[in-house]
Amino acid sequence: MADTERMKTVYFCTNRRYGVDSPSCAMRGSEKVMEMVKQELSRRGKSFPVEKFLCLGQCTFGPAVRIAPGGEFFLGAKKEKFDELLEWIIAEMEK
Ligand code: FES
Repeated sequence: MADTERMKTVYFCTNRRYGVDSPSCAMRGSEKVMEMVKQELSRRGKSFPVEKFLCLGQCTFGPAVRIAPGGEFFLGAKKEKFDELLEWIIAEMEK
């Protein structure tokens, strides 16, 4: 495995803004989804790094998740899309 592959990380935006005119990922449940993902990855024996991030610049389309380096986004990462998100993370991290 090359060094850049080892450094790949899954970043969840967990920014929280209060106010109806200020969308933010934590207000849409990103922290809970991140914990669900971490638990399921662990259950499957996947030790990918998963970290919080302050804001990924996709606030209107969040919750936002990004794999970096590489720059791919998964937007609208709500509980309802958990299975799709999990498979995407595994596929992106194992590329
Ligand atoms: S608040 Fe999540 S991308 Fe900006």
